[in-house]
Amino acid sequence: ELEESMAPEEKRDLKSRIKTLLKEKDAVLVAHYYVSGDLQELAAETGGFTSDSLDMARFGNEHPASTLVVAGVRFMGETAKILNPEKKVLMPDLEATCSLDLGCPAEEFSAFCDQHPDRTVVVYANTSAEVKARSHWVVTSSIAEKVVRYLHQKGEKVLWAPDKYLGDYVQSRTGADLISWDGACVVHEEFKAEALKDMRLENPDAAVLVHPESPREVIEQADVVGSTTQIIKAAQELPNRRFIVATDRGIFHKMRQAAPGKVFIPAPIAGETVECIACAHCPWMAMNGLQNLAHSLETGENEIHVDPETGRRARVAVERMLEFSRNLKSVES
Ligand code: 13P
Ligand code: SF4
Repeated sequence: ELEESMAPEEKRDLKSRIKTLLKEKDAVLVAHYYVSGDLQELAAETGGFTSDSLDMARFGNEHPASTLVVAGVRFMGETAKILNPEKKVLMPDLEATCSLDLGCPAEEFSAFCDQHPDRTVVVYANTSAEVKARSHWVVTSSIAEKVVRYLHQKGEKVLWAPDKYLGDYVQSRTGADLISWDGACVVHEEFKAEALKDMRLENPDAAVLVHPESPREVIEQADVVGSTTQIIKAAQELPNRRFIVATDRGIFHKMRQAAPGKVFIPAPIAGETVECIACAHCPWMAMNGLQNLAHSLETGENEIHVDPETGRRARVAVERMLEFSRNLKSVES
């Protein structure tokens, strides 16, 4: 992590400076589970929030602060801006992108949609504002299956983008007529199915928790497949004491707090040295630190801008997801 080598006193001072700045600037910190423990703690200590991408969007939308500081990757900041054009949205580093977003350029995606005018366009939140603006629905991993099942039951055919693994998973769960863009997450794509089989044999008591951006053969071995929030919840609720976890290792921070005394084993990747590129940690999430967060708050630099017309169109698709999830909650409760 960025601040690993920082002296404890220095870190404490920096945190207290950020706390003051958050108050002065009427700002709230919204973080993802993959960013450093320091940032997650800071969010908790200052009335902010750490969660999965759906709940981050929801929290930012409902919170009264005039500035949202998003510690995560760019699409999360853009989603916050799309939903809250009147708020200022800051990020520690604007270069923090996502391989799914990078792999789905808006123009090519739009041409793909043009080839399939009969299909409902459902895009994962891990996309640019332009791609969202070309879609009918935006979904996150926590709700993708439910939305696609709903569309399938209405007789709609789906064009899905960009994560082929999540698309494949959702298709297999719902039976929907679904075609997918060919994208992948560099972190989750590395989890290895064969090595996971061996690990399960060695740890027969452990439940397997998998994020659905992982390859099919990994997902097939899961006891629970879900978003980061759903994975943490499963660790709390399942009776198992040990878990094999296939998602970014940033999640272990919260898992250990949420389920103290339980044991979390990282699912196998190709190898720390030669073959693995991301080594179960998102290089873009790792760009978020205390120093660049403080800098952004102090200077107002690293503000997220979304073209207003693009934002308006994207908002329709994002609001659809929020509305859908509100209805689900009222049905479930
Ligand atoms: P969640 O919505 O599950 O937090 O996923 C976001 C993400 O980028 C996972 O890699
Ligand atoms: Fe994107 Fe994967 Fe990083 Fe999530 S972990 S932000 S999907 S590259």
